[in-house]
Amino acid sequence: MEDIRIAVIGHGFMGHEHETMLSQMEGIRLIGFSDRDPKQLDDVKEGLKRYESNEALLADPEVDVVLIAANNNQHHDLVIQAARAGKDIICEKPAAMSLEELDDMVRVTNECGVKFTVHHQRRLDQDFRIMKEIFDQKALGDVYMMKNSLYGFNGNMHDWHVYISEGGGMLYDWGVHLIDQILFMMPEAKITSIYADVRNVINFEVDDYFKILLRFDNQVMAEVELGTYLLADKPQDKWFERHWIMGGNKGTAYVDGFEPEGRIVRTTELLTNVSGSRTMTAAGPTRSFGPPAPGKIVTEDVPKVNTCHRDYFENYKKAYYGEEDFLVKIPETRRVLTVMDAVRESAKTGKSVDFE
Ligand SMILES: NC(=O)c1ccc[n+]([C@@H]2O[C@H](COP(=O)([O-])OP(=O)(O)OC[C@H]3O[C@@H](n4cnc5c(N)ncnc54)[C@H](O)[C@@H]3O)[C@@H](O)[C@H]2O)c1
Repeated sequence: MEDIRIAVIGHGFMGHEHETMLSQMEGIRLIGFSDRDPKQLDDVKEGLKRYESNEALLADPEVDVVLIAANNNQHHDLVIQAARAGKDIICEKPAAMSLEELDDMVRVTNECGVKFTVHHQRRLDQDFRIMKEIFDQKALGDVYMMKNSLYGFNGNMHDWHVYISEGGGMLYDWGVHLIDQILFMMPEAKITSIYADVRNVINFEVDDYFKILLRFDNQVMAEVELGTYLLADKPQDKWFERHWIMGGNKGTAYVDGFEPEGRIVRTTELLTNVSGSRTMTAAGPTRSFGPPAPGKIVTEDVPKVNTCHRDYFENYKKAYYGEEDFLVKIPETRRVLTVMDAVRESAKTGKSVDFE
C-alpha cells in the first residue's frame, strides 16, 4: 500500500501534536503545514513543506489528505475548500460550530466524493476504554449510572478559547469529547431526555462549567461534568481531577486519571438482610450508612486495555484503503452536536429537553 500523504492546516498547539505523531508513523507521510500566521511555521520540522497559503497547500498534487487543525470557527470553510480541491479530510473536533455548518460540510464532501472524518481520538483514552470494557463485559450487572468528569484548578482559559465567535468555551473544547465518549460507550441506546446547566463562572463570553444529565432508554443516567474554576490549594501536586464512576447492581467501578488507576468494588453479601444494628458515626447514629462488616467489601482490578491515540491513525490508514470502517463516522459526530444544542436549550430554559 502506498503511503497516505497528509498536510496540515494550522500549526498551533494541535498542529504541533500532529507533527510529532504523524512524523513517527509508518504508512503515513507528513508533507507540510500552512498557517494564516506565517510565524507559526517558523519551527516546522526540517524536510517538511511550509506553504505560503492554504490555497498553495490545497493545490499541491503531493497531498492526498488535509488535516484541519485551525480554530473551531474556521472548520466549515476550510473543509469546503479542501473538498472542492479534491482532498480527503480529517477535521479537528468539534467538527463544526453548528448542525447547519456540519450539514453543509457533509453535502459538499459528498458532492466532491472525498472522505471526511473527525479527530475524536479521546475514544482511545485509556480511562475511557477501561470503563467501556467494564460496560461491554456487563461486569457490574445492570448499570444505572455513570459519571464522566474533569475539573481544572487553574481557573484560566486561553487564547481564542475565550471568544464566542472563535468557537471558544468548554462545551466546544472538552464537552464534545466527554459527550462523544458516553455516546460511543452505548451506541445502541437512545437518549430520552437531557437536562443541563451551563455557566460562565469567570469568563465573560464563554462557558467554563457545565453539568449535563443524559437519560437513556437502557435505564442508564449518564452525567458529564466539567469545570475549569474549581480551585484547589495544592495545584503543584494535582492540577486537575479526572474521574469516572459507574454504578451497577453488581458493583461499582472507579477509574481516576488519564494514566488511570481504577478498581471495581463489590459486596460479598449482596441483598443479605444485615442486622440493622445502630452504628454511631460523626453524622450521628445510622444503620444504612455505617461501616461494612470486616470482609464484606471486596475489590477487583479493572480490565487491562491496550490503547493509545496513535491507534486513531492506525485505523485511519486501514479505513482509507477500505479494510475497516473509520473509527469516527460523521452521523456520530452529528449526534454529539445535536446533544450540544439540547444542552444549550436546557441550560437556557432551565427545563429538560425530550430527545430522540
Ligand atoms: N483532539 C484534541 O484532543 C484537540 C486538542 C486541542 C485542540 N483541538 C482542536 O484543534 C483545533 C486547533 O486548536 P489549537 O488548540 O491547536 O489552537 P491554536 O490556536 O494553538 O492553533 C490554531 C492554529 O491555526 C491557525 N489558523 C487559524 N485559522 C486559520 C486558517 N483559516 N488558515 C490557516 N491557519 C489558521 C492559527 O494561526 C494557529 O496557528 C481546534 O479545532 C481545537 O478544538 C483538538
